[in-house]
Amino acid sequence: MTLQIGPHPVQPPVVLAPMAGITNAPFRTLCREFSGGKGLFVSEMITTRALVERDAKTMRLIHFDGTEKPRSIQLYGVDPVTVGKAVRMIVDEDLADHVDLNFGCPVPKVTRKGGGSALPYKRNLLRSILREAVGNAGSLPVTMKMRKGIDDEHITYLDAGRIAVEEGVTAIALHGRTAAQHYSGTADWEAIARLKEAVPEIPVLGNGDIWSADDAVRMMRETGCDGVVVGRGCLGRPWLFRDLVAALEEGPDGTPTATPTAPTLREVARVMLRHAELLGQWLENEQRGVIDFRKHVAWYTKGFSIGSELRKKLAIASSLDELDALLSELDLDQAWPVGADGPRGRTSGRDRVVLPDGWLNDPYDCAVVGADAELDTSGG
Ligand SMILES: Cc1cc2nc3c(=O)[nH]c(=O)nc-3n(C[C@H](O)[C@H](O)[C@H](O)COP(=O)(O)O)c2cc1C
Repeated sequence: MTLQIGPHPVQPPVVLAPMAGITNAPFRTLCREFSGGKGLFVSEMITTRALVERDAKTMRLIHFDGTEKPRSIQLYGVDPVTVGKAVRMIVDEDLADHVDLNFGCPVPKVTRKGGGSALPYKRNLLRSILREAVGNAGSLPVTMKMRKGIDDEHITYLDAGRIAVEEGVTAIALHGRTAAQHYSGTADWEAIARLKEAVPEIPVLGNGDIWSADDAVRMMRETGCDGVVVGRGCLGRPWLFRDLVAALEEGPDGTPTATPTAPTLREVARVMLRHAELLGQWLENEQRGVIDFRKHVAWYTKGFSIGSELRKKLAIASSLDELDALLSELDLDQAWPVGADGPRGRTSGRDRVVLPDGWLNDPYDCAVVGADAELDTSGG
C-alpha cells in the first residue's frame, strides 16, 4: 500500500530522517540518486524563529536542488505564534511542499528551553503549536516526529498521537526511545505498534535502529507501521537507500526484490568525492565543502583497512585534489567489510534530560519558555 503524505505518494514508504548537519541538499541528492528518486528526504531541523527572521545560515539550509520533489522541511519551535508565522512564510513564499515538526530532539540546548523531546509533555502547548502549524499550512501536509517521552516515568507518545490526530496532523513518526535514552540501548519497536493501534486514522512511521533493508522490512512486519524513517544507518552509506527501495518495493509476483549493496572501497571513494564536491557547490566554496565533509570520513571508511596515518590525513583534507590523491593511495580493491554493517553514528546515553525549572510540575500548563533562545539553532 502506498504511503500518502497529504497529496504526496511515498512509494516505497521510506523516509530519510532529518539529521542536523547531515541531511542538507547535497546529502539528500546523494540518497535520492541511489533511490532512483523514490522515497521522502527531510531537511535538517530549521528553527522557526531563525526562519522568520531570515537568518542567512537558515536560508541556506532550506535550499532545495531544483529536482527535489516533494520538498520537505523540518521545523523546530517552542512558540505557537512563531511556528505559525514560519509555516505561513513557507506557504506564501513556496519554500516547501511538506512541513515536519520536531518533537524528538534530546540535546540539552533544545530541551533546556522546553523544545524538541521535552515539548509533548506540555499537552496544551503541543496542541497550540500543532493548531498554528496546521492552520497556517493551507494545502501543505504537516507531520510530526517525536520520541516515546521524556523518560520511563513521563511517557507521552500516545497522548501526543491523539492530540496530533485531533489537530489535523497528516502522519506521525515515532523514534522508539525516550529523551533520557538519547541513543543508547535499542529502540522499542513495540511502542511503534502501540501508536499504530492508537491512531488508526493517520499513517504512523517507525524510526529507530534500522541498519539494513532487512531491518526495515522487519520493522514494518512486526509493528504494522505504514513506513520507515532511517537516520544513522545512512551515515557514510547513502546507497542504503537503494537497498531500502528494493526491499520494500514488491516485485511483480509480490516478492521483495532486495539486493544488498556491498561496494568496494573504490566505489566508496567515488561516492566520497562526489559528496565532498556537492557540499562545495552548495556552500559555493570548495574548501568549505571538503572541510564540512571531514565529519563523514570515518563513517564512509568504517571497517576498511586503511592505516591510522592515512585515516588522519583524510580527516584533515582541505581540497578535492588532496582528498582525491589521498583516496588513490588506498588499497581500493578491498571488498565491503562485514564490520561496516550494524550500528554507526551516535550510540551514547545520557544521565538525565535537561529541562526548564518546574517543567514536570504541570503537564497542562501552556507557558512558552524558550522563545527568546530559539535563534541560532537551525541544523542542530
Ligand atoms: C547527527 C544527528 C542529527 C540529528 N538531527 C535531527 C534533527 O535535526 N531532527 C530530528 O527530528 N531528529 C534528528 N536526529 C534524530 C534522527 O532523525 C533519528 O530519529 C534517530 O537518529 C533515530 O533513528 P536511527 O536509529 O535510524 O538513526 C538526529 C540524529 C543524529 C544522529
